[in-house]
Amino acid sequence: MKPMKRKLALLAGVAAIATSASMASAQVYPPLAPLGEPPIPLDNKMSDAKVELGKILFWDPRLGGDASTACVTCHAPDQGWAFSDALSRGYPGTVHWRNSQSVINSAYLGQLFWAGSAKSLEKQAPSAAKGAVAGNGENDVMETRLAFIPGYVERFNDVYGTQWPLIGDAWNSIAAFERTLIVNDTPLDKYLSGDTSALNDEQVAGMALFNGKGGCIACHNGAQATDENYYNLGVPPAERWETDGLAQITYRYEIFAKGVTQEMYRVLKDDPGLYFRTKEKEHMGKFRTPPLRYTAYTAPYMHNGSFWDFEEVVRFYNAGGGENDFTDGTMAATKTDLLKPLNLSDTEIDQLVAFLGAFSGEELKVEPPVLPPYEAMASE
Ligand code: HEC
Ligand code: HEC
Repeated sequence: MKPMKRKLALLAGVAAIATSASMASAQVYPPLAPLGEPPIPLDNKMSDAKVELGKILFWDPRLGGDASTACVTCHAPDQGWAFSDALSRGYPGTVHWRNSQSVINSAYLGQLFWAGSAKSLEKQAPSAAKGAVAGNGENDVMETRLAFIPGYVERFNDVYGTQWPLIGDAWNSIAAFERTLIVNDTPLDKYLSGDTSALNDEQVAGMALFNGKGGCIACHNGAQATDENYYNLGVPPAERWETDGLAQITYRYEIFAKGVTQEMYRVLKDDPGLYFRTKEKEHMGKFRTPPLRYTAYTAPYMHNGSFWDFEEVVRFYNAGGGENDFTDGTMAATKTDLLKPLNLSDTEIDQLVAFLGAFSGEELKVEPPVLPPYEAMASE
């Protein structure tokens, strides 16, 4: 592509004017942008010692029920810091009911989980370690275990000044560690910072489609490529809910535990998403727009892992999204009208797929920590 054309494509990214025919009037969205440094909350300042402690705890299965399932079990560095199956593995004896999300760049998000049910990393960590189909831990058991690990007693004392480790400080440490899991030097960051050689011609063409004909920018916008808003795209229900008893058990358990009406409990066949939190019918089947960064490593995609590669995702959008299999029509009514058939050619589909690859950059690898052992305490 000629330099002039590249410049125009770059400008299209800056102005981000959606030209999709489906929109009555052109709307301006926050443009894709290079990713800066993550925000640090005032009440959980960063320090090297805290981050190191958080890293060890992230790997430690003793923060969980039967000491088998650590954060890293479902957020594996060699699986995009997520879990490469449609539905995540669960606590032993269970399967999870949603796709595991990457923890890379989660530090920038204000709404965590597919339906945004946690507002900070500090609040997210305990719900993961204690959730019945994730860590299934009990606060007092986990806290007692930490007290019997001298390596931790010393580190918690050093970072927090407490005589014994407090479980809340474990979550703060994990959150601090997660704030170091940042990938912000992707080809897209470089390109948007002025290095026009960072994307190839196919990707530049894909970016123009992303900002224009494809309409992706309407939701995947800003530095993280998410508006952190909620939509129902009509993603098909998880296949395993039809075929696998273990997956059905978790599904039935979740809709019961999270609370739906009795009538819904009987007829629901799909994940109600945001509805769980608000109990508003108009929120049925809506999920948070996920960031697109690091997604080259996090297949399969969507809240239930319905799609196995970028091409499947783009073809889904090209068809205008999907139709949920509802029960009484409630979910179908909540499908976003931002998705319409796109009429992309095969070449254009390839271009969009190539551009999606530009959000990821190098894989983030770290040296796994050594876990400190238990020791019996002297009776005196
Ligand atoms: C048994 C598997 C499992 C374990 C163990 C687990 N997670 Fe997760 N994690 C998931 C799944 C599945 C999701 C998405 C769940 C949802 O949205 O309902 C998730 C979501 C997250 C998110 C949200 C990311 C985003 O984009 O919003 C963060 C952060 C996270 N986990 C961190 C942790 C931490 C920290 C621990 C350990 C304390 C942990 N997880 C333990 C499976 C697990
Ligand atoms: C109406 C808002 C909206 C538009 C427009 C949109 N998306 Fe999405 N995107 C979402 C939501 C919401 C999800 C998650 C849906 C779910 O899991 O049910 C998602 C998921 C994805 C995922 C999977 C990410 C992951 O971590 O699993 C990719 C890739 C993606 N979109 C790319 C695109 C592309 C490319 C376009 C343009 C062709 C586009 N999106 C248009 C809202 C949107």
